[in-house]
Amino acid sequence: MIRLMVNGQQHEVDAEADTPLLYVLRDDLGLNGAKFGCGLGQCGACTVLVDGLPVFSCLTPVAVLAGRRVRTIEGLGGNAVQRAFEQEQAAQCGYCIAGMVMRATALLEHNPHPHEDEIRAYMSGNLCRCGTHMRILEAVRNAARQGLKP
Ligand code: FES
Ligand code: FES
Repeated sequence: MIRLMVNGQQHEVDAEADTPLLYVLRDDLGLNGAKFGCGLGQCGACTVLVDGLPVFSCLTPVAVLAGRRVRTIEGLGGNAVQRAFEQEQAAQCGYCIAGMVMRATALLEHNPHPHEDEIRAYMSGNLCRCGTHMRILEAVRNAARQGLKP
């Protein structure tokens, strides 16, 4: 059994130590927001936060997460980033969006007023195969203007 703290709740899961966090989130905990894209750490569709920092959950073995705080899109509760993505209609198919929102949330929690080059650099780890990057960047700027509540 592996103990995990996800979105403020403690869970015990019966998984091998090297099982990717993404599989545990989706298959054991029913949290389907994070998506499987490449499985190689190259697309960011699986991005979640661990102790406030974005990680590729497809590459993160569940055993390294004992005592650490995992947050997924299900735990955000409609924050300014989510509102801004809606306002800017920053999605086409939506597959990348949970990962984008998580990465943008991490950015604004650590840097509430990022410069343009900081936004672009931070968001560059996540790809959108539909090509909505310009709207996604506008959504991050919008969220920065609104400000994240703690
Ligand atoms: S599915 Fe994890 S980075 Fe692509
Ligand atoms: S909206 Fe389709 S992959 Fe980004």
